[in-house]
Amino acid sequence: MAEPKPFRVAGLIGWPVAQSRSPLLHGHWLAQYGIAGAYVPLAVAPGGLADALRGLVALGFAGANVTVPHKEEAARLVDRIDAVGRRMGAINLIVVEPDGTLSGSNKDGYGFVESLREAHPAWRGDAGPAVVLGAGGGARSVVVSLLDEGAPGVRLLNRTRARAERLRDEFGGAIEVIDWDARDQALDGAALLVNTTTQGMTGQPALEIGLDALPRSAVVCDIVYNPLVPPLLAAARARGNPIVGGLGMLLHQARPAFAAWFGVMPAITPDLRAKIEATIGAT
Ligand SMILES: NC(=O)c1ccc[n+]([C@@H]2O[C@H](COP(=O)([O-])OP(=O)(O)OC[C@H]3O[C@@H](n4cnc5c(N)ncnc54)[C@H](OP(=O)(O)O)[C@@H]3O)[C@@H](O)[C@H]2O)c1
Repeated sequence: MAEPKPFRVAGLIGWPVAQSRSPLLHGHWLAQYGIAGAYVPLAVAPGGLADALRGLVALGFAGANVTVPHKEEAARLVDRIDAVGRRMGAINLIVVEPDGTLSGSNKDGYGFVESLREAHPAWRGDAGPAVVLGAGGGARSVVVSLLDEGAPGVRLLNRTRARAERLRDEFGGAIEVIDWDARDQALDGAALLVNTTTQGMTGQPALEIGLDALPRSAVVCDIVYNPLVPPLLAAARARGNPIVGGLGMLLHQARPAFAAWFGVMPAITPDLRAKIEATIGAT
């Protein structure tokens, strides 16, 4: 009798994880491609990561995603790490290799760039200066990916300036730190504006910024995906700027993860997007 097809399992390590859409996303692809497997939320409390990673190997997992608050510690615990993950000092993807060692990588920046390309295929990173608002975890992946895409300059603004300066000192390159209070003027001549702050999320006030100085050709992104169209994107769309929401980043970072664990590079179909959007709510 033929061996049954192996049942492969991956999961999301985070704290909390109950709110994540990743199980729905990967579950959709497993069903679509007829793959025997599962993707499960793995609530790992702070302090428990090292045990959890050993557990992945012992339980025969194919790997895991890693989210807040474990991304940085995971980067220190895996056996090897890709160049982007090393630069960022944080990973969001772990693959358990056949010999039981752990490989880590960071696909958040990849997801961000792919979401831009999907929405605007003509988008080029080297088209002009980018303005990035925020200096938290999301900003790190956005800034690194924009530098890697050849952005001629990244104007980085954060409410807490010192945090933006730390990113500049860490990543170097063409990062210019500008005062948060000068954000309206910082948009002058920009080719891209990205909000990575929590402002505009459901339950948070809208980001306060005046778009008058922003060229109408500039692409405006918000990595917030709840709501799907935060106030910044609504304002940008109303004045004619091309916009990109944050959901694409979430969907695109998941593709290489699924491929690494389950052997198929999955597609983001309108059907899948609609299914995930339905969990977020109408715009
Ligand atoms: N689409 C995706 O796949 C994706 C991926 C990652 C994150 N995100 C989203 O991105 C957002 C940020 O996540 P994160 O992980 O980067 O969070 P984080 O590390 O906690 O950083 C939060 C950022 O928001 C800023 N901020 C908070 N309150 C503010 C206020 N009142 N005025 C101005 N700035 C304020 C913080 O500035 P200070 O430094 O001054 O506190 C910091 O720059 C969340 O909505 C998250 O869901 C989306």
